[in-house]
Amino acid sequence: MVFQVKSIGTIRTPYKDIAPYQPIENDVGEFKVIIDPEYEDGLKELNRFNYIYLIYYIHMVKRRLSMLVIPPWSDGKEIGLFASRSPVRPNPIGVSIVKLLKINKNEIFTSGLDVFDGTPLLDIKPYVKDLDSKEDANYGWIEDMKDKEHLILHIKGIPHEY
Ligand SMILES: C[S@@+](CC[C@H](N)C(=O)[O-])C[C@H]1O[C@@H](n2cnc3c(N)ncnc32)[C@H](O)[C@@H]1O
Repeated sequence: MVFQVKSIGTIRTPYKDIAPYQPIENDVGEFKVIIDPEYEDGLKELNRFNYIYLIYYIHMVKRRLSMLVIPPWSDGKEIGLFASRSPVRPNPIGVSIVKLLKINKNEIFTSGLDVFDGTPLLDIKPYVKDLDSKEDANYGWIEDMKDKEHLILHIKGIPHEY
């Protein structure tokens, strides 16, 4: 089956062709989403949430699709694509959880994002306490990496002493 989706807005970031692997919450620069005016009413009460999901089309992927990937932080370990957050997927759809800073008409200002400027937005959902945070979540294959705690700081872009 083939489906059609349409962009509902555009994500604006300072990143033209290099972006962090995952959102950096205290990243420097302006990060915002501009919703097409026809969807502006859909933002009513969204500002009540501290965090939101942004779902987008990773539109500039050039790398070849492969079912096995070596994530940048896996120390050379090969894993299945669906056990990774690689942007190169059969359907190049990305998800980022960001802090909602403010909404001004059809513009949503957020904390740092991991996408290139101009990335087409597909959807927004509120991140709901308890519903979206699982107490028994783990690190999957990342558990096997040596110096896991240090690695997590890198993945999250948190500055630290080496
Ligand atoms: C690893 S993906 C993670 C995306 C999302 N947080 C997720 O987990 O689904 C983030 C990387 O995708 C790449 N990227 C971001 N926006 C892109 C775009 N519009 N087109 C192609 N690649 C993009 C950048 O290299 C960035 O480091």
